[in-house]
Parts: sequence; C-alpha cells; structure tokens
Amino acid sequence: MNSNHLPASDQRPIGVFDSGVGGLTVVKQLLKKFPWESIVYFGDTARIPYGTKSEEIVRRYALEDSIFLLDKNVKVVVVACNTASAIAVPMLKEILTVPVIGVIEPGAKAAVYYSKNRKIGVIGTAATIRSNSYTKEILALSPEAQIIPQACPLFVPLVEEGWTDDETTYLIAERYLQGLRLNNIDTLILGCTHYPLLKNAIQKTVGKKVKLVDSGVETAEAVEQILKKNKLLATIEQMPKNYFFLSDMPYKFQEIAERFLERSIPHVETINFENYLLGKGEQFWKKYQTAQTKKY
Ligand code: DGL
Repeated sequence: MNSNHLPASDQRPIGVFDSGVGGLTVVKQLLKKFPWESIVYFGDTARIPYGTKSEEIVRRYALEDSIFLLDKNVKVVVVACNTASAIAVPMLKEILTVPVIGVIEPGAKAAVYYSKNRKIGVIGTAATIRSNSYTKEILALSPEAQIIPQACPLFVPLVEEGWTDDETTYLIAERYLQGLRLNNIDTLILGCTHYPLLKNAIQKTVGKKVKLVDSGVETAEAVEQILKKNKLLATIEQMPKNYFFLSDMPYKFQEIAERFLERSIPHVETINFENYLLGKGEQFWKKYQTAQTKKY
C-alpha cells in the first residue's frame, strides 16, 4: 500500500488531569475504549479539593496541570474533573495548542438525549453547581428543559473513605437527593468524577427509573470523536505506555486508586509540582493574563 493511503496516526499519549484520583473513573473508560492508546495522568493530590476554591484559583490550577501534560508531549488534554471543566475549559480551549475535552459538554448532551420529560437533575461540587455550566449547556441544547441542580460536597470524602455502600452514605444521599426525586427528574447527571463510585446509593435513592449519566463514559465517546476528526488516533500495533503522576502521595493511594480504576496502578511518580513548573509554559501565561480580562 502506498504510504499516502495509510491512515494518519499519532502515537503521542492522551493527557488527562484531575484535582486528585477522581479522574481515574474517566481513565477507566478511556482504557476500555482505547486499549492501544497511551495515557499520561496527572492528579493534583497536593491541592485537592478544587470544588471549594474560587474560579480564579481553579483556572490557574487547570492551566498549570495542562502545562505539565503538554510538557509530556500529549496530543489532547482531557479535563477529567467537573469543577475544572465547569470553570476553566473555555479558557483552556483558547490558550492551549492541542484539543481540549471537558466533561460538561458530553454529560449535558447525553442527558438531553436520555431525558423524556425534560426534567434533568445535576449533582456536583459546590463550585460546579455555582458555575451553572451544566444548566447553560443543557439549555443551549434544549431550551424547554427544567434543570434541578444540587451540590453534594460530602460525597467526595465519603468515596475517598470507601463508604460507598455505608448506612451513613444512604442517609446523606437521601438528604441531598430527596428534592430531585420530588421534582420527578427522569435523568441525573453525576457531575463529579467521584460520583460513579456512589452509583448504587444514588440509584437506590432517586429510584431505578432515573437514568444516571456518568461523565466518564460520555467523555470517552467525545475523546474518540475528537481523535478521529483530528486524525490523532494511535495505530493498533502500538504497545501502550501509561504514566501516572501525582503532586502528593495521599494516604492509602493504591487502595483508593484501585477502587476508581478497578485495576492496580503499577507505577506512580510523585513530583514536586511547584519546582517542576518553574520556567515552564511562558507562552501560555501571557495568553492567560489576557484571558483574565474576559468574562467566560
Ligand atoms: N474531581 C472533582 C470534580 O469532579 C471533585 C474533587 C474536588 O473537589 O476537587 O469536580
């Protein structure tokens, strides 16, 4: 076959970042979908949570995380964190030199697709809910939709503690989710990368007829489309190499990570993120200054 006819391919890794380990639920879906793609994951475990921080800080952290991934020569940046997606993706799309995929757009699209009665619930961190990103995205696709948002800040620590099926979790879920049930939603967006681990408790609380939208699954679909469109897919012959980097090694990391990924992580590197970033990404910081003057 003439080399002109060979499908274009790109062996560079897919870059994924999250404020911590939650983004591993997105990695799990990416590994399922792309067994031949390499992945570089960065979890900002030293600075988690992002969900309680200001928009300004989340935007700066998201750019730093992206600069780290670009330094590892990634071909796309997947923002596997709802908080960072809700607040920083429009800015990152403008600044970065590779395609950027957040979890909000794919999640909103899927919810509009699944909902029949147009009553859609959204749960997430305080910052994600406050940003109204899901609401804006859903209304752009379906102006007649009714969106019922609910911040569930206690869900993240419950997952990290491993209390996914605990009596306490059911009590807290009931307290957070009863309003959504009373509003008769038929679709619920799990707007935080930790929440897929609480699927059982959430489903039992809102009722089995409610369709739960997992941003990880929907984002993996969106990544596939972007890779295809930009001719960035790796060839099937490639032996993938996956790298996991953290800005701090949290207590019981392997145990928590295995819960998210449903497999062990063979090699994790902890980096001194502040030192690593020194002198990196100068061209992005200039654009960032300009972007700060804009309203997203
Ligand atoms: N990963 C974050 C998200 O999806 C949750 C944890 C945090 O607050 O940083 O929103």
